[in-house]
Amino acid sequence: MELESLRTILGVKGIVTDPSLHSAYTVDWTRRYSGVTPAVLLPETTEQVSRVVTWCYENSVALVPQGGNTGMVGGATPVNGELVLSLKRMTEIEEVDDSTGQIVAQAGATLGDIQQAASLLGWKYGVDLSARDSASIGGTIATNAGGSQVLRHGNTREQILGLEAVSGTGDVIGDLRGLSKDNTGYHLPGLLCGSEGTLAVVTRSRLRLVRPPEEELSILLGFKSLNEALGIVEEIRKSLEDVQACEVFFQNGLNLVCEKFGIPPPWDTQLVAYLLIDAGGQLGLEERISKGPLSNSLNASNFVAYGNDSQSRKRLWQYRDLHTEAISAAGIPHKLDVSLPHGKLNEFCNGVREVISEIDNETQLFLFGHAGDGNIHVNILGPDPDNLAVDIAVLKYVASLGGSISAEHGVGRAKAHHLYLNRTATELDIFRKIKAVFDPAGILNPGAIFPR
Ligand code: FAD
Ligand code: MLT
Ligand code: ZN
Repeated sequence: MELESLRTILGVKGIVTDPSLHSAYTVDWTRRYSGVTPAVLLPETTEQVSRVVTWCYENSVALVPQGGNTGMVGGATPVNGELVLSLKRMTEIEEVDDSTGQIVAQAGATLGDIQQAASLLGWKYGVDLSARDSASIGGTIATNAGGSQVLRHGNTREQILGLEAVSGTGDVIGDLRGLSKDNTGYHLPGLLCGSEGTLAVVTRSRLRLVRPPEEELSILLGFKSLNEALGIVEEIRKSLEDVQACEVFFQNGLNLVCEKFGIPPPWDTQLVAYLLIDAGGQLGLEERISKGPLSNSLNASNFVAYGNDSQSRKRLWQYRDLHTEAISAAGIPHKLDVSLPHGKLNEFCNGVREVISEIDNETQLFLFGHAGDGNIHVNILGPDPDNLAVDIAVLKYVASLGGSISAEHGVGRAKAHHLYLNRTATELDIFRKIKAVFDPAGILNPGAIFPR
């Protein structure tokens, strides 16, 4: 491939052709996907992104947009030898507007950078996930990332006030005006958010900030039965006022986390399920919560731990947050990120074990996730990474219960062949037509969302 033109656009520091420096960009976080690339491109400005994509369009060269490469579905991996367009050098936070509570940043700034910049001015960004220090804001927009505070603030899509992006023809589209009201036709930010680099490269965004709560409190509850734990989730969903997160994990995942990271367990007893509830609001949280739907469990259970300050909250959160790394250290998991309709979480968590063991009874199954959103992360260790039998069985089971086969991680390459389980042929046809309008040459992330 003739790369001189790209070198001219990006300068020597903006293009890495030495394969020995590519592994951070060509292997995905889960290690399930890997590829090769002729070059990693590292633009610094929207103009450079536009010139690069224009060159790719004119020369029919495919590229894979990439942020922090923390995605879970192989969406940012050059599996067919594409160029990698990394936004890693576009990290500027351009504005934090104290009067309106808005932040403008380039796409390569990390989620943690955004959170910190907001916090310095007394604001908070409503999205949080444990890959915050590596995941880019552009990547979270491209995947419509969820995380732990969806219950309170919604997914990433709900935070976006404006987007700037480069379409598959190299044109710069969108705006960053941040108008509260703007019904001038189709909503581009809503469409580009969650499009996983298949319609445009996100270059900058304007995001909504919220006021942080006066007080925050985390509560870990242990349960001897799954039904008891999930029964309370329904109660919590009904009384959302102070609750900002409601996460679930199970004893085998907790044991793995404690072993891997040398952390003492919260209690010596082996239980079944754990809920981690995070509340934030006006002063007096503990009193209000003790009178709410959790009161019975809080008073009657021996397995309750409170985190009142940042250190003790962090100690409780690590049991939940370290699941991903602990499981990954134990092997290459089949990762399925699914959501269930209200009232079906219990049935799914009980039934999924049987669905898996009918295919392979030697697997190890770890379930955890955002119970408050009906979102469970199904992690299966055992089957070869390329053997998709259990994946397909679980996804079919989810679809049969009316759930989604991708709750928050996106489709990427991992789910591309299974989208038919949730989308009709007509819908998929419309998706393809939309793609062709934004990316007529099909150069943006081929193979993601749509199978090659
Ligand atoms: P990448 O992995 O680089 O890319 C992801 C996708 O976005 C790819 O399709 C890529 O092509 C596209 N993309 C990236 N940047 C751009 C851009 N600027 N323009 C257009 N397309 C782009 N996800 C959740 O939703 N909730 C969680 O709670 C959560 N927790 C996680 C915890 C851990 C420990 C890890 C490792 C991951 C977690 N994730 C979670 C997954 C991941 O962090 C998110 O999907 C995140 O949004 C990816 O951001 P990224 O910058 O790493 O994107
Ligand atoms: C999480 O909630 O921790 C994530 O989405 C990551 C994972 O699924 O492993
Ligand atoms: Zn998650």
